[in-house]
Amino acid sequence: MTDRLKPLTPAILTLDDKTYTLPTYIGIEGEKAIDISKLRSQTGYVTLDEGYGNTGACESAITYIDGEKGILRYRGYPIEELAEHSRFVEVAYLLLYGELPTVEQLQHFSTALNDSSIIHEDMHHFFNGFPRGSHPMGILATMVASLSTFYPVFDRLDEASEIQIVANLVSQVRTIAAFSYKKSIGEPLVYPSHTLSYVRNFLNMMFASPVRDYQLDDDIVRAIDMLLILHADHEQNCSTSSVRTAGSSMANVYAVISAGISALWGPRHGGANQEVIKMLEQIHAEGGDGTEFINEAKNKYSSKRLMGFGHRVYKNYDPRATVLKKHCDILLNKPGIKDPLLDIARRIEEVALNDDYFISRKLYPNVDFYSGLILRAAGIPTNMFTVLFAIGRMPGWLAHWREMIHGERVAIYRPRQIYVGESIRHYRDIKDRT
Ligand code: CMC
Repeated sequence: MTDRLKPLTPAILTLDDKTYTLPTYIGIEGEKAIDISKLRSQTGYVTLDEGYGNTGACESAITYIDGEKGILRYRGYPIEELAEHSRFVEVAYLLLYGELPTVEQLQHFSTALNDSSIIHEDMHHFFNGFPRGSHPMGILATMVASLSTFYPVFDRLDEASEIQIVANLVSQVRTIAAFSYKKSIGEPLVYPSHTLSYVRNFLNMMFASPVRDYQLDDDIVRAIDMLLILHADHEQNCSTSSVRTAGSSMANVYAVISAGISALWGPRHGGANQEVIKMLEQIHAEGGDGTEFINEAKNKYSSKRLMGFGHRVYKNYDPRATVLKKHCDILLNKPGIKDPLLDIARRIEEVALNDDYFISRKLYPNVDFYSGLILRAAGIPTNMFTVLFAIGRMPGWLAHWREMIHGERVAIYRPRQIYVGESIRHYRDIKDRT
């Protein structure tokens, strides 16, 4: 434990007629924890917490969430203030280095991102090897892991090489994402440009072509920038925990981040934004109002879930969804952008928020409920939605990786289990088996 945790009165545990004293601590926002790190050696018991819903796996000073009150802060700053006043590159710096940058620091950081934006030319061949129609998340995870072969990482990282790793990953994830899209539609690659800001650069690489300039719409650029800010970190979620787990083995950072990308892909995590749009399109195509889908999601014998609803931590409206809903209303009211799926989404939200099933389980819209509608309005193809989430989450993953490797002690992530398989039995020759 670090001295950032303050001790409280120890907990008394009675087990098998013996009494044990367990240290307890409180964090700076009043979160309380029982330290069970010596529980097994003292009592022979482990804790059982499937899905780690009740396990604090580390101390972290990056992001604070209060799921009951719907609070999300990066390094102490409320997400609503950052979404309104900041820009993604500045938020990335904040997450990574702990403070909002000065003008000079932001300039240095932006220059480092620009200078690192081109991927090694030999990597272009890899894109040709993926079958047409490959999911861009598969391509992204592969390409990011392969960065390790082009940009070797030394065992002892000095400050300069760490800054370079961060710049490579934050910048090149955007280049790889756009290149994988271009390959998927059979168009030539558009290289990054030093004259464009982070989001403009990405949209230009996605949508410009040698025969067609891309007209950047300020409202769309702003909406995508804000969306990246909202996705930039979310403490110990599935992909970030994967990054910490893989990173705790001291694996190469590019492989570590690739593990995070793979975990993000799943439909219960970052893949949900794609699934929300599929769901809304299906309801639209069938001409229904969503009631049938909602009823199916409520049926415990069906595997369907209302996508974009529910969250492990938020038992109240996801604050990111509140910001996005407002921006959806602004963006989708622009001439020529109106999307019939927005009306369906609003209707589903209203029905679900008044339905006892969702009320009793505290299931509210999450960030992915509205993010897909904004991405659609920006012309981003549905199978690229989770890739956009990955671009946004990159600073968060790297901030957690840095926090971990610079920690006082890096313990390898290695949970226990309760074995429920066969008890001991002995090998039988194949002819004696029935
Ligand atoms: N639709 C219908 N029922 C649901 C839903 C949903 N979207 N989410 C949870 N439930 C039910 C679930 O069936 C269970 O019911 P019961 O108590 O009767 O068995 C109860 O609510 C608790 O669910 P859980 O799976 O134990 O809750 P969890 O905290 O483990 O799961 C979740 C959180 C996000 C995986 C889940 O709510 C879900 O699958 N939502 C849909 C996918 C989605 O939108 N994911 C994006 C999350 S936000 C982006 C990110 O950070 O990744």
